[in-house]
Formats: sequence, C-alpha cells, structure tokens
Amino acid sequence: MRARLAVAFGLLLCLGVLAGRAQEPVVRDAAVLTRQSLMREAKSALGVLTEMSGHSLRFDRTAARAAKRRLSSALRRLPRAFAAPRMDAHSHALPRIWQDETGFAAAAARARSAARAIEIRSLPALRRSLPEVVSACLACHRSFREPP
Ligand code: HEC
Repeated sequence: MRARLAVAFGLLLCLGVLAGRAQEPVVRDAAVLTRQSLMREAKSALGVLTEMSGHSLRFDRTAARAAKRRLSSALRRLPRAFAAPRMDAHSHALPRIWQDETGFAAAAARARSAARAIEIRSLPALRRSLPEVVSACLACHRSFREPP
C-alpha cells in the first residue's frame, strides 16, 4: 500500500502536478511528514472553531468540545514532534527551533495553554477565547517557520 502510494506520488511529481519545491527528490523525512501532518491536524481542529465563531458553521457545544480536544491533543504532541532536528527539502521549519529550544518550548506552551483556555460553553465565550490561540500559532510561525 505504502509502495503504491509512493509510486502515485512520484507520478504526480513527474507530471509536475505539485508545485514549487515538490520538483525536488521524493525522499521525505518521516519526522518532517509527521510534524507537518500534526500541524495540519491543529489547523483543521482550529478551523471548526473559527468557522463556528464566524457563523459559517452552526455553534454546537459537542462539536466544539471535540474540536478543542483535537486541537489540545495536537498541541500536546507538538514539542516531541519537533524534538529531533530533522529537515528535508519540503520543510519550512527554521534551524532556530533547535538553536533556541527554550524559546520554541515557550511558544509551544503558550499555544497549548491558549487551547486549554478555549471556552465552549457559548458562542460569545468561544469568540472571546479564540484570538489568543490564533496569535499563539502565528507568533511561533513568525519566529520559527519560514514563510511558505
Ligand atoms: C511552537 C511553534 C508552533 C506553534 C505553536 C504552531 N506551529 Fe504550525 N508550524 C510550526 C513550524 C515550525 C512549521 C513548519 C514545519 C515544517 O515545515 O517542517 C509549522 C507548520 C504549520 C502548517 C503547515 C503544515 C504543512 O503541511 O507543511 C500549518 C497548517 C500550521 N503550522 C498550523 C498551525 C496552527 C493552526 C497552529 C495553532 C493552533 C500552529 N500551527 C501552531 C510551528 C508551530
């Protein structure tokens, strides 16, 4: 299955379907793939909450709780996902992550506690608690990720 996926991915690359850096060799570092998919999981969970907050999704406490849990769980796994200084051509991580480990850990902790403080009891409460999460994501990206 994995081999077939790799072949399919390779074909896509040859066809030039994937843009930009994807033209580089298909060799991908597993740790990089894992941390990027963890980040996408965080984005997807946060997306549910921001859509509820912007009314494009109906506010629903159960769904909000599930999204909050998903987000918190992703952010809990974040420090370990970046523990090893792994890189590949497709990564946007900056080497500074491993030069300023204290700063990176603090940025991760800030996001984690902002996620823990998300209020899901009502829509106005959710709205008030989300900006800190978003700015914690952005703050880390500003310091530790090169603009994609
Ligand atoms: C402690 C730092 C840190 C925090 C906090 C953080 N990120 Fe990231 N994020 C990164 C780094 C570094 C990368 C680049 C990883 C790579 O390309 O190897 C990244 C990449 C991403 C990506 C791109 C993934 C991909 O497919 O390449 C998304 C989406 C993302 N983050 C969303 C979020 C969201 C949403 C939050 C907040 C809930 C968040 N991040 C919080 C450091 C952080």
